[in-house]
Amino acid sequence: MINIAIDGPAGAGKSTIARRTAANLGYIYVDTGALYRAVGVSVLRRGLDTTDAKAVAQVLNEIKIELKFVDGVQHVFLNGEDVSTDIRLPEASMAASNVSAIPAVRAFLFDLQKSIAANSNCIMDGRDIGTVVLPDAQLKVFLTASAEVRAKRRYDELVVKGTPVEFNELLEEIKLRDHNDSTRAIAPLKKADDAVLVDSSDMTIDEVCETLEKLVREIK
Ligand code: DC
Repeated sequence: MINIAIDGPAGAGKSTIARRTAANLGYIYVDTGALYRAVGVSVLRRGLDTTDAKAVAQVLNEIKIELKFVDGVQHVFLNGEDVSTDIRLPEASMAASNVSAIPAVRAFLFDLQKSIAANSNCIMDGRDIGTVVLPDAQLKVFLTASAEVRAKRRYDELVVKGTPVEFNELLEEIKLRDHNDSTRAIAPLKKADDAVLVDSSDMTIDEVCETLEKLVREIK
């Protein structure tokens, strides 16, 4: 199986680029952030603190998380319920970041990610795919962009959707998540030694896709 790992901070454009390239290649696109978001949502729904490792570990005994691909589109299920919409609620982002720092959560989601990659040609995006989940991926990309550019992209997306937001609030949240994700003790966000660094700050989506497709052609 061909496995491509794309890691990078929130808002770098990983999902847009990975989804489009996967569709062009006929691979599945696996968004691993959705798994952490589903755990975060289940903890929030129970009214528990997403940083409380003991409480979160207890929740893991009560939940089953599955990914299903419908016409190539990933859906995430929490105890049989499709939570693909709820995991995109604003509060799910920090909840996911918080639970993702808990070792039991990472262990809980590891096998699911490995088994998908073992059975399909895929592009998998996240924070630790090249470093921990798929260290033998045929191609690893670390996609980044400045915090300001990432916040501006989120801001523009939300404005188009008609959701009122403060740019500075988005920027602060992005910086806080970067800090959380890259300083945690377990599987922190970092570039794998053998990953190709792509800084998309001054690139269009088309340019980033072309760069990725060129890298993919080189592995074959
Ligand atoms: O990619 P995303 O923004 O949907 O991810 C949400 C959070 O999940 C992110 O802030 C950190 C965590 N995450 C992780 O720790 N490891 C991954 N492979 C993917 C996401």
